[in-house]
Amino acid sequence: MNEIDAELNGFAKLGISGQLLKATTAAGFTDPKPIQEQAIPAQLAGRDILGIAQTGSGKTAAFALPILSRIIALGTKRRPKTARALILAPTRELAVQIEETIKVLAKGAHISTALVLGGVSRFSQVKKIGPGVDFLIATPGRLMDLVREKDVILSETTWLVLDEADRMLDMGFINDVKRIAKATHPARQTALFSATMPAEIEQLTQSLLRDPVRVEVAPQGTTAAEIVQSVVLARTKQKRKVLSDMLADEAMSSVIVFARTKHGADRVTKDLERDGFEAAVIHGNKSQNARQKALNGFRDGSVRILVATDIAARGIDVPGISHVVNFDLPDEAESYVHRIGRTGRNGRDGIAITLVDPSENSKLRQVERIIRMKLPVIADHLGQPDPVREPRPQGERNFAPANDGAREGKEQRRDGRPRNDGFGKKRFGAKPHGDRPFAKKHDGDQGERNHGGERPFKGKPSGERHFHGKPKGDRPFGDKPHGERKPEGSKPFRNKRRFNRKPAARAA
Ligand SMILES: Nc1ncnc2c1ncn2[C@@H]1O[C@H](COP(=O)(O)OP(=O)(O)OP(=O)(O)O)[C@@H](O)[C@H]1O
Ligand SMILES: [Mg+2]
Repeated sequence: MNEIDAELNGFAKLGISGQLLKATTAAGFTDPKPIQEQAIPAQLAGRDILGIAQTGSGKTAAFALPILSRIIALGTKRRPKTARALILAPTRELAVQIEETIKVLAKGAHISTALVLGGVSRFSQVKKIGPGVDFLIATPGRLMDLVREKDVILSETTWLVLDEADRMLDMGFINDVKRIAKATHPARQTALFSATMPAEIEQLTQSLLRDPVRVEVAPQGTTAAEIVQSVVLARTKQKRKVLSDMLADEAMSSVIVFARTKHGADRVTKDLERDGFEAAVIHGNKSQNARQKALNGFRDGSVRILVATDIAARGIDVPGISHVVNFDLPDEAESYVHRIGRTGRNGRDGIAITLVDPSENSKLRQVERIIRMKLPVIADHLGQPDPVREPRPQGERNFAPANDGAREGKEQRRDGRPRNDGFGKKRFGAKPHGDRPFAKKHDGDQGERNHGGERPFKGKPSGERHFHGKPKGDRPFGDKPHGERKPEGSKPFRNKRRFNRKPAARAA
């Protein structure tokens, strides 16, 4: 790039220069986004920062570029097992993506990066960080393990970033994050970024930030202006058909469908497949390979429909997602902002449709309060009857005994519940593994919120919203996610939490 080009590049005016400016320009970044304009100079001047800007508005480069610029100036001498900068992210996929972005922005600048995250072998991670790296991008659980085992030394880390900061500071992560922050260099510079920052979480930032600059491009919770949002009223039993009818429209070219639970995501995926659609699914009970494969397929366009839990709600940048469909509303109102923010990124158009059962009305109101706008209802199916359930295809639990009366037109009991065919009796705790508290030790990758330690859905006391507090054996018909068996209109979040008094920082 010649001198004139460099002057034309707005990033030069922000203090980015040399190879970094070249690579940034080559990546297509010529005009800084508002968050970049405001956050980059402050960080270059050494200030801590709390950055709030809408989804898809360029927060990654806003924290990556100033650190890159300072690190490049330091030269390549690094101490073994150390990292100069540490970026923490709530999910493995987001960590992978941040590393990719850093590599693109730093192309040709001899910057070393390493990833530390769960679900994959430690060996290669430990090996990679052995000589010391410039950037370590990590999820907190695995990083804690490697720090404890002295495979990673954080005392030389002078830059710390929490991407999706409000998520990193909520109950599921805060303890690990505090410990990690304490292990870094005392004179570190810290940056916190997110599109949402509830007031009670912002208080927690005080313990991490020193005299921070607060950059707020739009008030927290603001959704990207490009996203056209709407609501479709449909009872839970109608949602499958409503979704399939919707997806028949080819204009929905790249769709992410969010479900509240892992079990729910699996069920939506199966139903879509039965209705003739091809869909990939991503949630916390899948292997890391399967998770990354599903996301990669969606990214490269070979997968048109991705069904996901909130594990894919934050930070994931797949340009060209045309639609986000919320099959149900998330437990945490902020998640709505992040979910729909997978579309309408970087100035592109996007459409977000939320299917709302009457029992979800209070959640909808909470969402509307956070985004400070009322969502228009574009369709109302409530007056229509529930669709007749098709029999399951051959081979899929179609093994009722031949003499079972239930198959002779007596599908339902008088009270409307399905007849018990004898196979469903006393199925204790058939709930999917990871939906239970303390189900397994985990790496701290917490995309999903249906675990202990989660922050309460706004306005409810925290003890009142745990579906998972009961011991497994207490639920004789545990084949459905807790809460889903309740009659319509009944109040959720009533069960007192019993086991989850402590944040289950490592469950996911
Ligand atoms: N200055 C720029 N010029 C052109 N494209 C940019 C610029 N800054 C960022 N982008 C692109 O915009 C997209 C969104 O950026 P990014 O993922 O950093 O958003 P974000 O604010 O972190 O969103 P989220 O809140 O969802 O994490 C990316 O594809 C990125 O490459
Ligand atoms: Mg981001």
